[in-house]
Amino acid sequence: MHPSVLAEIGPGGARVRHRQQPVGSLARETWTRPVDLLVSDMNLAPPAVIRYIERLQPSVRARRWIITLKLNDSAMVSRLPDFRERLGRIAPQPLRVVQLTANRQEVMVIAG
Ligand SMILES: C[S@@+](CC[C@H](N)C(=O)[O-])C[C@H]1O[C@@H](n2cnc3c(N)ncnc32)[C@H](O)[C@@H]1O
Repeated sequence: MHPSVLAEIGPGGARVRHRQQPVGSLARETWTRPVDLLVSDMNLAPPAVIRYIERLQPSVRARRWIITLKLNDSAMVSRLPDFRERLGRIAPQPLRVVQLTANRQEVMVIAG
């Protein structure tokens, strides 16, 4: 995480809290209050990212998401409707999925 991001103080004193640990360990923790914003930019296949989000969201109850899905092959592209449907079951609403123009093989899921 770039130091400038960690130094940033947003409205109401909001800060980024960088947890340097595997995502799988986060769902096992006790989260006393809902997380404001869940950001995920993991270089994993979308089914793995979605499995992690499905496990994590019931614990963290994030109010908003920004999640990238890297569609590295045509099989992943064709499964995009399924990915959207699965995330839609647990996502904060509204849910949007937008293609990122940089390499065109990545979408951003914006929820809440
Ligand atoms: C595309 S990079 C993210 C870059 C980041 N957005 C930035 O601007 O620096 C992908 C990141 O996913 C992380 N990652 C991959 N698998 C992970 C996992 N199981 N748990 C946590 N992080 C993971 C990697 O450590 C790597 O830093």
